[in-house]
Amino acid sequence: MKTDFLVIGSGAAGLSFALDAAEHGHVTIVTKGRIDECNTDYAQGGICSVTYEPDTFEKHIEDTLVCGAGKCDREAVELVVRNAPDMIRQLIERGTRFDRTPDGRFELHREGGHSEFRILHHEDLTGAEIERALTESVRRHPNIDVLENHFAIDLLTQHHLGEFVTRHTRGLACFGAYVLDTATGEVVTVLSKFTVVATGGCGNIYSTTTNPAVATGDGIAMCHRAKAITRNMEFIQFHPTSLYNPGERPSFLITEAMRGYGAILRLSDGSEFMDKYHPMKSLAPRDVVARSIYREMKRRGEEFVYLDVTHKDAETTRRHFPNIYEKCLSTGIDITRDMIPVTPAAHYCCGGVEVDLNGQTSIKRLYALGETSCTGLHGANRLASNSLIEAVVYADRAAKHAISNLGSVDFQDGIPEWDFEGTQHAEEMLMLIQSKREVQQIMSNYVGIVRSNLSLKRAMRRLSIIFEETEELYGKTKPNRELCELRNMIAVAYLVIKQGRELKESVGCHYNTDYEA
Ligand code: FAD
Ligand code: SIN
Repeated sequence: MKTDFLVIGSGAAGLSFALDAAEHGHVTIVTKGRIDECNTDYAQGGICSVTYEPDTFEKHIEDTLVCGAGKCDREAVELVVRNAPDMIRQLIERGTRFDRTPDGRFELHREGGHSEFRILHHEDLTGAEIERALTESVRRHPNIDVLENHFAIDLLTQHHLGEFVTRHTRGLACFGAYVLDTATGEVVTVLSKFTVVATGGCGNIYSTTTNPAVATGDGIAMCHRAKAITRNMEFIQFHPTSLYNPGERPSFLITEAMRGYGAILRLSDGSEFMDKYHPMKSLAPRDVVARSIYREMKRRGEEFVYLDVTHKDAETTRRHFPNIYEKCLSTGIDITRDMIPVTPAAHYCCGGVEVDLNGQTSIKRLYALGETSCTGLHGANRLASNSLIEAVVYADRAAKHAISNLGSVDFQDGIPEWDFEGTQHAEEMLMLIQSKREVQQIMSNYVGIVRSNLSLKRAMRRLSIIFEETEELYGKTKPNRELCELRNMIAVAYLVIKQGRELKESVGCHYNTDYEA
């Protein structure tokens, strides 16, 4: 199969790129499940953009830099913040509806680490609204084909032409991808002029996560195998407030916008505790809040703390957070009367595949966008609601860059079809599920909110056993989604641990007790 632009992933990043690129060439989107199975669909709080005074670009830039704990790239921050209003206009043109006040102005929310109200939202279902609008636009576009239930396995480079490649190989380029049709088991060789990896995050490497099941870090793992550079992988962000509801996967998020609205974190005796940890209290940056909750839970031997919104007007609470209200009610909690039990959960990958200001990776003809990428915007800790806007800003940049180079590249000859020789259908799916759980336990036990040199070393040792077993199995098995995902989760977990061991300090989302500040 040949296509000008191969887009892997159908969240905000992939769909936005596809819509831009489709004006200039043919786009094929492959996505491993339904089109709307993605982190984007789960986003609640909203999307950041400086909208009204007294907010300014400078304030949004400063908040992002402060939250990123000295590890942001200023150019990336400026790029996203200054382009955000244009991208919000584009989202609206593409059909997204943001909530407005009765006088027609945008209703803005505020979340942790923000000095101003600058978060546009659609009720508490902002991501689903963006995904709906983009999906409808994509479905209507004659130049875009969407292949659901198609799982990208690996990126094609000179390696597939028999050349020896390393991360330092000059001129390393991407020619497309091997894609598994999960309905037939066939592996399609998709040749493209440009390839975009927009496969989202990797929350599922942890036992407790807000991410849906598709977030297994596939794109980061694929790029790593193809010899692209990754960075900042140790900065896994834990959201402080997921609903404590043991056994539920993914964990249901209680948006930080609720704290922006006035909800207060409390212990089981009703006392506040965030004032001990940060002057912004419940609205402190996310890493601080998650760590403070972790400390309180550990100290008291409890599995959750409470989020209290009962002092706010019940009707207004229901209007702002209808989805959360209904969900909590379904578990027996009326948030207008009862405190909500909450606990931190793995939420966002601040690192990823290193890209430049055009979303280009270290491999030519290969872009990484959205949560898969590391643009430098988030540094060591992402400012709330900065990721959706990053996804659309960089999709726009990457599309413009690829379009301007479209005339100078052609499809690559000589790429072999997938080699099934010596492989059989998987016999033991149970072992895969067990290995997946083991990876999640290793990461949660040893590479969680708080780590140490010893815990990281222990995690690496244990992971290496599962790595060896899985590689052996992979070598003799026809590809299937579960096995490929497990392999990718192991690769991503490895990167988180390895890069965590290399960082000799505690900063942002990486807190190592051997380097306490
Ligand atoms: P995604 O939306 O995750 O899309 C990835 C796509 O890639 C999916 O379609 C997936 O199926 C596909 N895919 C993955 N692997 C493969 C493969 N091997 N082959 C083919 N397809 C593949 N951010 C904000 O800015 N504001 C918020 O309010 C907010 N709230 C959030 C709430 C929750 C509960 C969660 C989980 C995240 C939230 N985030 C929020 C973060 C934000 O939603 C994500 O970072 C962002 O949506 C990522 O978009 P994306 O396009 O990069 O990836
Ligand atoms: C939330 O709504 O609290 C999540 C926002 C985000 O992750 O950016």
